Amino acid sequence: MASPTVILLLPLALGWLSSSVTTHVYDGSNSVFLVERRRSLPKGFIFATSTAAYQVEGAWNASGKGENIWDQMVHTNPGFIADRSNGDTACNSYNLYKDDIKLIKDLGFRMYRFSISWSRVLPDGTTRQINEPGLKYYDDLINELISQGIEPMVTLYHWDLPVALQNMGGWLNRTIVDYFQDYADLIFARFGSKVKWWITINEPFSIETIWQGHNILKAHARAFRLYKAKYWHHGGKLSISLDSTAAFPKNSSNEEDVRSCERYMQFQLGWFAHPIFSTYGDYPAVMRDLIDNNSAREGRNFSRLPYFTVKEIEQIRGTFDFFALNHYSSRMCTNGKRGQSPSWSRDMEVYAYFNASWPPSQSSWLKVVPEGFRKLLNWINFEYNEPEIFVTENGFSDYNVLDDQGRINYLKGYLSEMEKAIYEDGCNVTGYTVWSVLDNFEWRAGYTERFGLVHVDFESPLKTRTKKASAAFIKDYIEANSAWISTGS
Ligand SMILES: *[C@@H]1O[C@H](CO)[C@@H](O)[C@H](O)[C@H]1NC(C)=O
Ligand SMILES: *[C@@H]1O[C@H](CO)[C@@H](O)[C@H](O)[C@H]1NC(C)=O
Ligand SMILES: *[C@@H]1O[C@H](CO)[C@@H](O)[C@H](O)[C@H]1NC(C)=O
Ligand SMILES: *[C@@H]1O[C@H](CO)[C@@H](O)[C@H](O)[C@H]1NC(C)=O
Ligand SMILES: *[C@@H]1O[C@H](CO)[C@@H](O)[C@H](O)[C@H]1NC(C)=O
Ligand SMILES: *[C@@H]1O[C@H](CO)[C@@H](O)[C@H](O)[C@H]1NC(C)=O
Ligand SMILES: *[C@@H]1O[C@H](CO)[C@@H](O)[C@H](O)[C@H]1NC(C)=O
Repeated sequence: MASPTVILLLPLALGWLSSSVTTHVYDGSNSVFLVERRRSLPKGFIFATSTAAYQVEGAWNASGKGENIWDQMVHTNPGFIADRSNGDTACNSYNLYKDDIKLIKDLGFRMYRFSISWSRVLPDGTTRQINEPGLKYYDDLINELISQGIEPMVTLYHWDLPVALQNMGGWLNRTIVDYFQDYADLIFARFGSKVKWWITINEPFSIETIWQGHNILKAHARAFRLYKAKYWHHGGKLSISLDSTAAFPKNSSNEEDVRSCERYMQFQLGWFAHPIFSTYGDYPAVMRDLIDNNSAREGRNFSRLPYFTVKEIEQIRGTFDFFALNHYSSRMCTNGKRGQSPSWSRDMEVYAYFNASWPPSQSSWLKVVPEGFRKLLNWINFEYNEPEIFVTENGFSDYNVLDDQGRINYLKGYLSEMEKAIYEDGCNVTGYTVWSVLDNFEWRAGYTERFGLVHVDFESPLKTRTKKASAAFIKDYIEANSAWISTGS
């Protein structure tokens, strides 16, 4: 006969296998949502929140920092940004990082994902000149996190390329692979003993063309292999953060539409994931086939999708310790040739669009589709042999709302679908990251789209931070799902 204690701990011990068990660890909570919850997430599950250097740091020219492509863009072409704003000061996290860490801790997160500004530590992108004050900033940040019990996850490249490297062709120039390796080497050497979670590059799909992507894949693989050869004794885990939407067929009884979803997934996520995470490596066969054929049809004597050598395929394949996923929204898919010729979308032969029934956010590209999250996690689980998946970004945008019920609704829906992927489908999701802890500079949207759990008053000299309603929601959710910590099981 099981004692009440055993009954209570059983679901926790069963971990992944438990399905719809009822635990009573939340008794006494005054939150309706918590009372409704049935179980906590698996033991060891990590809740994180994230930012990126250019979006929060400010201090664009402080203490020897070199210029990056975003500094240059916002200063030479302000009209590129929706509200003609820039990240010169942003959230001023360069100076206020201790306040940020206090907030992150208050909200209950155990991990903070941030990025290093390449030109802050290497002003011209190369190790010819190392900017010690820049390295000191990140050392201070990491030390403060660790002293507050928050684990750092560091992204090496989150879109802010040093201008000096851009002037040599940026990611189009194959020598950038060597410069990225040198940069990674420096950062691993300085911070490898303190940082155990690494992301080489963030969302190559969102910013790069096919040729740039080719060098990005090589650069990622170089950094991964360098770590495993030279810094393996630190025992860190590395990956690359890939962004993906989920794809729904226009008509789920129509095989053509179902196939167009698969093509969409391969062109989008498979482009970068297949070379790294699949059994055989290299680009997805369907991309190879369609782009090679179109290139020939256009009268070219080469394919617009570059070839890896056999050796390169081997060097890139398997360069991951976990699957790092950024996910926000979904698309409906059907056959169709869209976009100019040649282009990624025309090669793909898919017409991808939003279902009019999906609720909007402040961002045109972000509609609320919680069930897409579960679908995508399952697609990855099946396609790449059941990897450990760490969600490195997920979040919702609005504008200047403190009582942000839209964000709460989004997080509730997406977290609930993630739970189903874990408990009902067996996906090995080990961590989840909210984008973002703070409102910040949202690239071309400037400050017109806000993703923070915490509001930032960008007009105020002190960049005043104020918790939104979603901050309390996420704190409760994390607490309820960390029952395995307090039960000591
Ligand atoms: C940094 O840029 C600001 C303008 O954003 C300027 O006022 C300041 O003088 C610059 N500082 C240095 C050290 O160049
Ligand atoms: C590529 O970078 C190298 C320096 O690493 C430079 O010598 C070369 O001119 C660059 N190529 C192009 C096309 O800019
Ligand atoms: C969906 O596809 C099926 C199979 O091709 C077809 O019979 C059905 O009419 C389609 N439904 C709509 C609404 O087009
Ligand atoms: C591409 O061309 C090859 C050779 O002509 C052909 O066998 C194949 O079916 C074509 N693929 C597509 C997707 O059109
Ligand atoms: C393609 O043709 C051009 C001349 O038209 C030539 O310079 C180039 O080397 C050719 N490339 C390949 C891969 O054969
Ligand atoms: C798309 O919208 C239609 C009409 O509102 C709805 O019936 C359908 O379920 C939606 N499909 C998805 C995948 O959300
Ligand atoms: C999930 O991944 C973690 C980390 O790789 C591993 O320790 C664990 O055994 C995996 N769980 C399952 C159920 O595969």
